Amino acid sequence: MKYTDEQIRAFGLNRESIPAHVAIIMDGNGRWAKQRGIPRALGHRAGVTRLKEIIRFSSDIGIQALSLYAFSTENWARPKTEIEALCSLFVEFFNREFDELNENNVCIRALGDTSRFPAEVDRLIRNANQRTRDNTGLKLNIAMNYGSRDEILRAARLAAEEPGGVTAENFEKHLYTAGLPDVDLLIRTGGEERVSNFLLYQISYAEFVFPKTFWPDFTQERYIETLKTFSERSRRFGGLDNS
Ligand code: IPE
Ligand code: IPE
Ligand code: MG
Repeated sequence: MKYTDEQIRAFGLNRESIPAHVAIIMDGNGRWAKQRGIPRALGHRAGVTRLKEIIRFSSDIGIQALSLYAFSTENWARPKTEIEALCSLFVEFFNREFDELNENNVCIRALGDTSRFPAEVDRLIRNANQRTRDNTGLKLNIAMNYGSRDEILRAARLAAEEPGGVTAENFEKHLYTAGLPDVDLLIRTGGEERVSNFLLYQISYAEFVFPKTFWPDFTQERYIETLKTFSERSRRFGGLDNS
C-alpha cells in the first residue's frame, strides 16, 4: 500500500469503501483493435499495458485481492494464431513484470488448470506462484484456462474425499480462490453485461459494474470512477439498511 488516507480522499475515494476483492473481466481488446483496423493481437498487447496500470493502482490503494480473467476454458475455441499470440503475451508479461511485482510484495497465483498451456507458460506461472507465496501485499489472481463450472465440480469432487464430506469449509478450501475474501466488485469492460463463467460461487453478493470502455482504454481514471460507483452502492446482504 502506497497511498495515505489523504491521498485516497484526493482521488474522491475513502479507505472504508475500497473493496477487499475486485474481479475484472478484461473484455473488448478485439473490438478496440477492429475499431482501429489493426490485428486483434495488437488489441491484446494494448490490453497488457492497462493490466500493468490497474495492478499497480490496486496494490497502491490497498485492495487485498485482484482477480483478472485472462483466458477462459471457452477461449480454446478461438483461432490457433490468436491463442498463440495470447501465450506469447503471457510469457512476455511474466518475464518483464515479475521482478517489479515481487518487489512490490505482490503474491501471484493462477486460477485454473494452467497445464493445458505450452510448458513455458505453465512453468512461468508456477514459478511466479512459488516465488511470491510469502508476499503479504496484493493477492493477484490471474485466471488462465479458468472456468467456474470446472472449478466448482473440481472442488466438489475433492471435498467429497475429505473427512466430513462436502461442507462449505471443505468445498471452499478446494476453490482456486481458497483463503481469499468473496468478490465485492465485479467489473466487466467492453459493454457486454454477462459473467461468462467467471467466479460464479465467489460473486454471490458482489456489486456489478459494466463500463462500456474497451479494456485497452480502461485507464486508472476509469478505474477510479468505477470504484466510486461501487462506493455509492448500498449493500444489504439480505438484511436491511442501517440508515
Ligand atoms: C478479451 O478481449 C480478452 C480475452 C478473451 C483473452 P476479447 O478478445 O474478447 O475482445 P472482444 O470481446 O472480441 O472485443
Ligand atoms: C470473457 O470474455 C473471457 C475473458 C475476458 C478472458 P469473452 O470475450 O471470451 O466472453 P464472451 O464469449 O463474449 O462471453
Ligand atoms: Mg470478448
